[in-house]
Amino acid sequence: MSASSGEGARVTIRDFQERKNRGEKLVVVTAYDALFGKLVDESGVDAVLVGDSLGNLLAGFDTTLPVTLDQMIYHARSTRAGVKRALLIVDMPFLTYQVSWRRALVNCGRVMQEGGADSVKLEGASENVLTAVRAVTGAGIPVMGHLGFTPQSVLALGGARVQARDAQSAKQIVEDAKRLEGAGAFSIVLELVPAKVAARVTEAVSIPTIGIGAGASCSGQVLVLHDLLGLNEGFSPKFLKRYAAIAADVRNAISRFGEEVRAGSYPDDDHSF
Ligand code: KIV
Repeated sequence: MSASSGEGARVTIRDFQERKNRGEKLVVVTAYDALFGKLVDESGVDAVLVGDSLGNLLAGFDTTLPVTLDQMIYHARSTRAGVKRALLIVDMPFLTYQVSWRRALVNCGRVMQEGGADSVKLEGASENVLTAVRAVTGAGIPVMGHLGFTPQSVLALGGARVQARDAQSAKQIVEDAKRLEGAGAFSIVLELVPAKVAARVTEAVSIPTIGIGAGASCSGQVLVLHDLLGLNEGFSPKFLKRYAAIAADVRNAISRFGEEVRAGSYPDDDHSF
């Protein structure tokens, strides 16, 4: 057992790799604040992802494109306050890492220093992104890659659709994964990729792959907390399994509160001073 993997110790990227090597599936769930960060951490996940999906779920944007670096840092710092054990990964938002490796380094540095992240996640494998990954990992910042459907390119991809369906693009995603590994990424998210292609990618690299809509062969799985809790009722892609129906519970609790206030039964003597 490594010094970092003792009872109650913080999960590191080394633990990530060792768990993958032992054939243990990795579990990653998103969180955007201290309260949910704590609950997710206490549930025993390997990593908590402060995803820029917070743009859709918290801010109500149609895409993740409007999310800013300052917003990510605010949510990273809030989530850090609740996450004591799991690896904290933070998404770098749109155009904070593609423009130049210098800007990528400065911006990733801010997410680490001001947001308290353990690592950052960058989408894609263009030359600019690979250069950024090399620079950022070269500075000692762990980087997770993200291939397949990359939400920051949703407009260019023509919607949230399954990627790498044909032989040429399947070959490309395998090559991209190898390049990301070569550039120093410690893990790669595979989003909306056919299960067989995700299996090929997972075979082709030695770092862990984390799937979302990418079948069972990945080294681990990630889901967005609000989706798995059934808080985001309007979102029902095929890959999503809901493990609770919290939206209904929220409405039910609040309407019971309203009924009791209107009926004069709350607060009763037990809830009054
Ligand atoms: O932003 C996010 O929540 C993500 C996950 C879907 C992997 O990138």
